[in-house]
Amino acid sequence: MARYNPRKKNILGYAGLVVILSMALSAGIGIAFGNSETGKTPVPTPSNTANNTADPSDPNTNTDPNKEPTARDKALSGQDFTIDPATGMAKEIKVVDDNYMILVNRTHPLAQTYKPDDMVTVKYVVSGVGKKGETDQLRKVAAEAFEQMVEAAAEDGINIKMRTGFRSYEYQRDRLYDVEVKNNKGKGMSEEKAIAEADKATARPGHSEHQTGLALDVGGESEKYALSYSFGETKEGKWVAEHCHEYGFIIRYVDGTKKEPGKLTGYVFEPWHIRYLGVEAATEMYQQGGGKLTYEEYLGILD
Ligand code: DAL
Ligand code: ZN
Repeated sequence: MARYNPRKKNILGYAGLVVILSMALSAGIGIAFGNSETGKTPVPTPSNTANNTADPSDPNTNTDPNKEPTARDKALSGQDFTIDPATGMAKEIKVVDDNYMILVNRTHPLAQTYKPDDMVTVKYVVSGVGKKGETDQLRKVAAEAFEQMVEAAAEDGINIKMRTGFRSYEYQRDRLYDVEVKNNKGKGMSEEKAIAEADKATARPGHSEHQTGLALDVGGESEKYALSYSFGETKEGKWVAEHCHEYGFIIRYVDGTKKEPGKLTGYVFEPWHIRYLGVEAATEMYQQGGGKLTYEEYLGILD
């Protein structure tokens, strides 16, 4: 499967459509819009979604073929997946080579077996949290950026550490998601309600960005490095929100509030969860949205 390239796919798509239409017309066959096998309207694919949202006035939309690709162009060309029309979800999502811009969310899961092969142990980790030799790791590029960020923060008198970084599929399932659902049931919730509540704040296994080794949760000294919704109001949380893009990170679930999950990300606001995208993209996003733009919006992949 080729890497996802919206322009290339659209050109092929239009050419393909012309061929199919002319074949159908010459054969005298009427074409009904929709999937011929299921009769359903096709689910939007990343290529047509990206195309629909490509705005020539958007400074990140590269309309000149001779122009250097923007950070967004690179991010889009690094997405390698197909959409399963039956579920509307991405399947066969692949993390290619050194790609660190992969979109992972509710509709774009990783394979159960995916584990990055370039992880290192992060220097600044809250002890006693997670699983040693696993959740204290990140992919090298993110670990180095985070360590630089911690050191720069310390120079400003701000002390932060990582709580968990990489989380395997099994860790996400056995130590987080399933536990959350079970606890909710223990509080008297129905199965359905228990799942719905867990889904607001905890990704299902395969759907967590932590499995990419590029996302991490941050704690600050003022709150004893706890995982806390009030982190965003602490001096450490404010420093992270203001400066993390300088080191290539974004705060990821910015469309939600503490109570209401965001419409695009599907999660409540987590002031502690940051995702590495590289300085170029993170800075572009910060400049465009002041820290309020979701990665889905930036890419134009909203399905
Ligand atoms: N809390 C985020 C959504 C996760 O579980 O990855
Ligand atoms: Zn997190």
